[in-house]
Amino acid sequence: PPVDEMLNLHDFEAVAKAVLPAKAWAYYSSGGEDEITIRENRAAFQRVWFRPRVLRDVSHVDWSHIILGQKSSMPVYISATALGKLGHPDGELNVTRAAGKHGVIQMSLDQIPTLASCSFDEIVDAAQPGQPLFLQLYVNRDREITKRYVQHAEKRGIKALFITVDAPQLGRREKDMRMKVVDDNGTAKVQDGQQDVKKNEGISRAISSFIDPSLSWKDMAWFRSITNMPIILKGIATPEDALLAYDAGVQGIVLSNHGGRQLDTSFSGLENLPPIIAALKTRGPWPNPNFSVFVDGGVRRASDVLKALALGASAVGIGRGFLYSFCAYGQEGVEKAIQILHDEFQMNMRLIGARSINEIVAEMVDASALSSR
Ligand code: FNR
Repeated sequence: PPVDEMLNLHDFEAVAKAVLPAKAWAYYSSGGEDEITIRENRAAFQRVWFRPRVLRDVSHVDWSHIILGQKSSMPVYISATALGKLGHPDGELNVTRAAGKHGVIQMSLDQIPTLASCSFDEIVDAAQPGQPLFLQLYVNRDREITKRYVQHAEKRGIKALFITVDAPQLGRREKDMRMKVVDDNGTAKVQDGQQDVKKNEGISRAISSFIDPSLSWKDMAWFRSITNMPIILKGIATPEDALLAYDAGVQGIVLSNHGGRQLDTSFSGLENLPPIIAALKTRGPWPNPNFSVFVDGGVRRASDVLKALALGASAVGIGRGFLYSFCAYGQEGVEKAIQILHDEFQMNMRLIGARSINEIVAEMVDASALSSR
C-alpha cells in the first residue's frame, strides 16, 4: 500500500513483515525465549487508564520537549536498533535524515562489526549541522577501543552516551537462531575476529561476541573520567539498580528490557517506572534536572508516551516503530511515522487537557492495575 495509507505505527509493522526477507524479519521481530516480555511490553500500557481533564482551553497545545538539554519536537527519541541494512539499503541513514528534518533525536548505534549496519561516522556525516544525536555503546572487552570510540564520538558532537547494561550476553532469540548465518554457499557470513561464533547461532549472537561481560559498577567512574558527555545506563529494571546508578554519578537511566530481546519474563519498563521513581524520590527533590529516567519497550502510540510521562518518565524511546517504518518505506516511512505521532500528540493532549508537557501530571492516569504498585 502507498505510504499515505499508514494510519498508525502498527501499520508499518504489517508492511515490514510482508516485504522483509525472512531472516531480517526474524532478527527484528524476535524476543528472548518464549517472548513473554515482548508481549508484556505492549500489554502493560493497556493497564494504565487516563483521567482526562476538560474545559481547559486546549486551542494551543505544545508537545515539544527538551531531552538531555537538546530540543526535540516531541517527548520521544528514536532508540538504537542494529543492522538496519538488513531491512533497507540505506539502513539507519533513513532515520538520520528524517529525524534531522523533523527535529527528532536519533540514538545512533555502536559500531557493530558487520556490514549490515551504517557506521557511526556515516550517520554523523548524514546529520544536518547542529542536529543532536545520542550514541548507544556496547562496552568492548578491549577498553582502549571503547575509550577511543567514546572520545571520537564526543569530538564529533554526540550529545549523550547510552551505555547498554542489559546485554552481558545476548539473549536467546530462537526465531533468529533458526535462521542460519550462512550465505548461499554455506559459508559463515560473520566477519573477522568472530570465529568463536557457531554458524547456527543466529545473527544476534554472531555479532555480539565482543561485548564485555565483566562490566560492573566499578567501571562507571572510569567512564566519567574519559568523557564529558552525559552518561545514561540503558537497561535498568529495579529500584536497587536505579539507586546504584544515581549514586554512581551518571546522568540518567533507561528502564528497558531491550525490546523484550534479553531476559524473558522481566517486567516492562512502564511497569518498573512507579517503584523506581518512588525510590529516586528518597534521594531528594523530584523531578531532578540532573537525573533523567527514560522508558522504552512496546511504545507505538503518543498515548503510550503520555502515560509514561504521567508516571514520571523524562522522555520515551521507540525502537521497532521507526525501524519498521524505514523497512517498509525508507526515509519517507520514518517521516510519515513522525507525522503520525505528531497528530496523535495533538489530539491526545487536547483530550486529556494538557497544553504542554509539564501539564502532564500523575493525576492524569490511573495506574492501579499495574502489578508493581
Ligand atoms: C534493539 N535494541 C538495541 N539496543 C541496544 O542497546 N543496542 C542494540 O544494538 C540494539 N539492537 C536492537 C535491534 C533490534 C532489531 C531491536 C528491535 C532492538 C533495543 C532498542 O534500543 C530498544 O530498547 C527497543 O527496541 C525498545 O522496544 P521497542 O520500541 O522495539 O518495542
